[in-house]
Amino acid sequence: MTFREGPVTIVRREDYAPPPFWIDTVDLVFDLDPAKTRVLNRMRLRRNPDVAPQALRLDGEDLNLARVLVNGAGTSFRMDGQTLVLENLPEGNDPFELEIFTTCAPEKNTQLMGLYVSQGTFFTQCEAEGFRRITYFLDRPDVMASYTVTLRADKRQYPVLLSNGNLVESGDLEGPGNEGRHYAKWVDPHRKPCYLFALVAGNLVAREQRVVSRSGREHLLQVYVRQGDLGKTEHALSSLVKSVIWDEARFGLSLDLDRFMIVATSDFNMGAMENKGLNIFNTKYVLASQATATDTDYANIESVVGHEYFHNWTGNRITCRDWFQLSLKEGLTVFRDQEFSMDLCTTPSARAVKRIEDVRVLRTAQFPEDAGPMAHPVRPDSYVEINNFYTVTVYEKGAEVVRMMQTLVGREGFRRGMDLYFQRHDGQAVTCDDFAQAIADANPDSELARQLPVFKRWYSQAGTPRVQARGEFDAAAHTYTLTLTQSCPPTPGQADKQPFLIPVAVGLLDAHGRDLPLQLQDAAALTHGNTLVLSQASQQFVFTGIDAEPVPSLLRGFSAPVVLAMDLSDAQLLHLLAHDSDPFNRWEAGQRLALRRALAAIQADGAPATEPLDAGFIEGMRAVLRHPTLDAAFKELALTLPAESYIAEQLDVVDPQRVHTVREAMRRQLALALHADWVWAYEEHHDNGAAGPGALSAGRRALTGMALTMLCLAARETNEPIWPGRTYQRFKDAGNMTDRFNALSALVSSGQPLAAQALERFHAMFKDEALVLDKWFALQAGAPDRGGDILPRVRQLLTHPDFHLRNPNRARSVLFSYCSANPGAFHRPDAAGYVFWSEKVVEIDAFNPQVAARLARALDRWKKLAEPYRSAAREAIARVAAKSDLSNDVHEVVTRALAD
Ligand code: PHE
Ligand code: ZN
Repeated sequence: MTFREGPVTIVRREDYAPPPFWIDTVDLVFDLDPAKTRVLNRMRLRRNPDVAPQALRLDGEDLNLARVLVNGAGTSFRMDGQTLVLENLPEGNDPFELEIFTTCAPEKNTQLMGLYVSQGTFFTQCEAEGFRRITYFLDRPDVMASYTVTLRADKRQYPVLLSNGNLVESGDLEGPGNEGRHYAKWVDPHRKPCYLFALVAGNLVAREQRVVSRSGREHLLQVYVRQGDLGKTEHALSSLVKSVIWDEARFGLSLDLDRFMIVATSDFNMGAMENKGLNIFNTKYVLASQATATDTDYANIESVVGHEYFHNWTGNRITCRDWFQLSLKEGLTVFRDQEFSMDLCTTPSARAVKRIEDVRVLRTAQFPEDAGPMAHPVRPDSYVEINNFYTVTVYEKGAEVVRMMQTLVGREGFRRGMDLYFQRHDGQAVTCDDFAQAIADANPDSELARQLPVFKRWYSQAGTPRVQARGEFDAAAHTYTLTLTQSCPPTPGQADKQPFLIPVAVGLLDAHGRDLPLQLQDAAALTHGNTLVLSQASQQFVFTGIDAEPVPSLLRGFSAPVVLAMDLSDAQLLHLLAHDSDPFNRWEAGQRLALRRALAAIQADGAPATEPLDAGFIEGMRAVLRHPTLDAAFKELALTLPAESYIAEQLDVVDPQRVHTVREAMRRQLALALHADWVWAYEEHHDNGAAGPGALSAGRRALTGMALTMLCLAARETNEPIWPGRTYQRFKDAGNMTDRFNALSALVSSGQPLAAQALERFHAMFKDEALVLDKWFALQAGAPDRGGDILPRVRQLLTHPDFHLRNPNRARSVLFSYCSANPGAFHRPDAAGYVFWSEKVVEIDAFNPQVAARLARALDRWKKLAEPYRSAAREAIARVAAKSDLSNDVHEVVTRALAD
């Protein structure tokens, strides 16, 4: 494992320099053995004529070097730390052969980067800088080579041998020492950066399907899993087929390979990886059956399968010049997977639900990141450890930046821009600037093209902009003047910000809730009929022909990743909640009303109110719940109160216990006040037969689950046994995991005595289903705290025979659910949560720095905390930071957290 030796190195974007050598071809031969794998790497290199002649410095990590040959002969070399330096290479620009022989120990690889073993199967993970743990190389994405890979291994233990591209040869090995061994040779027809290299070797089985693309080309699609899991691969494979079809239809992008494989592993640091033609997935995003996976799992599988497949063009065919450009592929590919999921929706309402869910992630995770010590631009300027920059900012905010481009140039214009992007850059390693330029150049008359330098500040400036809106109705002039003012708080290293280009989609509602026709005094200032483009610190927009004061609906569809502030009255928000034709803003109105009540109760003096909600709000919520035409999925979202973490972000000083108490009081009040309505909702939606996969029936299940939670919460208050009993019954009888888990969760989250029994039964039912056990652990670690009962429960869970700290999914199921997703339980006045956190960060860092560094971020927002939390949190972070042998990963996170 590599740990810091001396001071850390900061990598800066402005220091980018092209590589002094190119690697044209790579021929790799692996002799796979868990204890000692031998890697023969034969490369063809040449000097980059554009760079001054210099030594070749090859990256390496935890490798044992046995031999180095240049053009077949021995050569002098030296080590600079872990870097292999070759100073006496042939002069001139002719290609030469470099042969490097190394060994590594996959079974000892606990950080799951490079070549590792999971349940007896070999896997690789090379993004971002894992390839250097396999062989010495120029481990940077702008070095693209053609790969030939030969895998040699014991045939009985590793019958399946996979790598990128096409299988060109396979068979038994001959000669002494090769008894029972076989080989497979793969050739990837496309050049690629080494982070997209992959191999898999093990005893796996595949579900497969042939598809014919538009061009008439036939492709073999395969999903590889362990023997017993084949029955859970149907959904992943059909998601893959849909992805292939969608990318052809929407972007004209066809599969460029004869064979496209997905392989699942239960030991994976992230969600999945887009290796060329050989995607490797966390089992969580592959395996699903009605009995074991929830509707959310099904939806996630669809979008992650899509995401990795879409990378084949956005990421693989066109890749990143350097890791600062990560959002070039990630922001764009998240945007594409979001659009994919939306396009698969069959109703406008289902599309809106998907949009609301995406925005919720952005606001609950990315906004806090953008306001905390790890804040960074979508295209960062520097990093210590690149693994720390696979963030919601690069991914989700990056996707919003791409979405704004589409909003500014329109859907067709965006397609033209994508076409131009591929025309210009196919096969290249490029930058975020190149992407924005292509979209703008394809749409010369757009606001994007006119103000491209202003727009690109989204890539260079961190922080969430704040837009203050003020509306003024002039009855005599029949005008409504909207004044929009923007600002952006300072972030680390960026004290002052320049104005952003912010598309603000708008509507004006009349007294009946209908949209007024929009007419601007300056007609040109309205893009696509409903979008204002704010690009200065403050601008005024005058709507004409307005006869009565309208209710403004701003930032429709969440048209920009900003905080919108506007002093709307309760009456105006209730009007939007009841009528807005934009479903996003309809939901948003409810959230604003709820947030307003939460903040009032939190900020009031004295003990927090036990009934923070008023009749107006409750009636508004009742109307949504009982609405005759809104669909169930939307209702469930609208009736869900803003998360504790989102509420906390709105406060300058946060008392997490008070936030928790107030939100719980609001939930209880909604449970009691709407009791008859929850009963109605349950009766109306619970019986929808088998779990049809569609969004409509999923929505009904979601609302049913919410109703049960509310009814169990109410029962707890009134000591009523009927609903908990029914919930337990439903838990037992459920025909699918969504209903079963929702019922279980209703019992657990309402603190019902029956929860213990249900949990025990659930564990017994699913003791052999790893992904279901993850849910079982997560549910308990994430349950609402009652008198400090969760931490002892968490400590106990860690001693459970099924708990394995080294398996990332299992570790996350307990530790992240507690430290990152359960603020009311984690922030304890006795600081025990923080002590626990620091122990675990240090413990995990010793074997898997990436997972440790993510856990380390649970205390990012410590500076906002009230005392005694604040001091206790700082102490815990300082304790971690003081350890001498921290990884770069954790070191960067905790030192940034402690910085002023
Ligand atoms: N590139 C992967 C994705 O977004 C994520 C990933 C990063 C996976 C680093 C593993 C390691 O699709
Ligand atoms: Zn990705």
